[in-house]
Amino acid sequence: MADIIDGKAFAATVREKVAAHVARLKTAGITPGLAVILVGEDPASEVYVRNKGKQTLETGMNSFEHKLPADTPEAEVLTLIKRLNADPAVHGILCQLPVPDHIDESKVINAIAPEKDVDGFHISNVGLLATGQKSMVPCTPLGCLMLLRARHGSLSGLNAVVVGRSNIVGKPMATLLLKDSCTVTIAHSRTRDIEALCKRADILVAAVGRAEMITGDWVKPGATVIDVGINRVAAPERGAGKMRLVGDVDFASASAVAGAITPVPGGVGPMTIACLLANTVTACSRINGLEEPEGLTA
Ligand code: GUN
Repeated sequence: MADIIDGKAFAATVREKVAAHVARLKTAGITPGLAVILVGEDPASEVYVRNKGKQTLETGMNSFEHKLPADTPEAEVLTLIKRLNADPAVHGILCQLPVPDHIDESKVINAIAPEKDVDGFHISNVGLLATGQKSMVPCTPLGCLMLLRARHGSLSGLNAVVVGRSNIVGKPMATLLLKDSCTVTIAHSRTRDIEALCKRADILVAAVGRAEMITGDWVKPGATVIDVGINRVAAPERGAGKMRLVGDVDFASASAVAGAITPVPGGVGPMTIACLLANTVTACSRINGLEEPEGLTA
């Protein structure tokens, strides 16, 4: 039976480090501020945004929420971002994705000042990360990397397979693993013999968004499995109409083979918001020319 990687507990230690650095910045007269923009009323996004705001305040930072109606014109969102870019009380800006169809996601992302881009999605940050320069690092892959480093120490020379090629998780995850000297493969829906490929992975990161797609027979004995998926599925055993959360990995079969595995919920999920807080305090330190917190970035 695999060791269970407790992302919830690890995230709490990240938040403690963030809070300690926030306290230090406050003695220098600076309070880090995070602005979150939500366009529309997607219920899952509303839950995320509420949690982000709550945890931002709990670590001593300022939280600015901008909730806009679903039919807000793109130009209005861009004007708001311009204003936040120029606001000295705001050190991090995040626009919750997905945005409604009439808004160009890339335009919104690339309107954010790169030094305030706590999602690390701006083309400048993507390019800086890919070329090994100092950048803002996307929160979910950063959280996964922290868990992997804590488990393995050095990742050098390990075979890593990332299943999923999204801009938010798959691609930046692969970049970070390469930076830590893994041999990296990105697998996706068109990959041939994906099961055999995954079975060679010392580190298997699942970020496809398909409930329990990866089963124990895809896992190399002793491998570390990081499950980024958050899928809501029907749970009739809990009563009519009830739902439960599952990952992209079939936990029961995979945990019988893996050396270590993240559960869903309680694995990668809590790390994402903790890393958003970490990125905000890192951005604030950099913007003010002050020392960065240690161990909170890649
Ligand atoms: N929607 C799902 N994940 C993310 C994320 O990491 N950042 C933003 N801005 N939106 C998301």
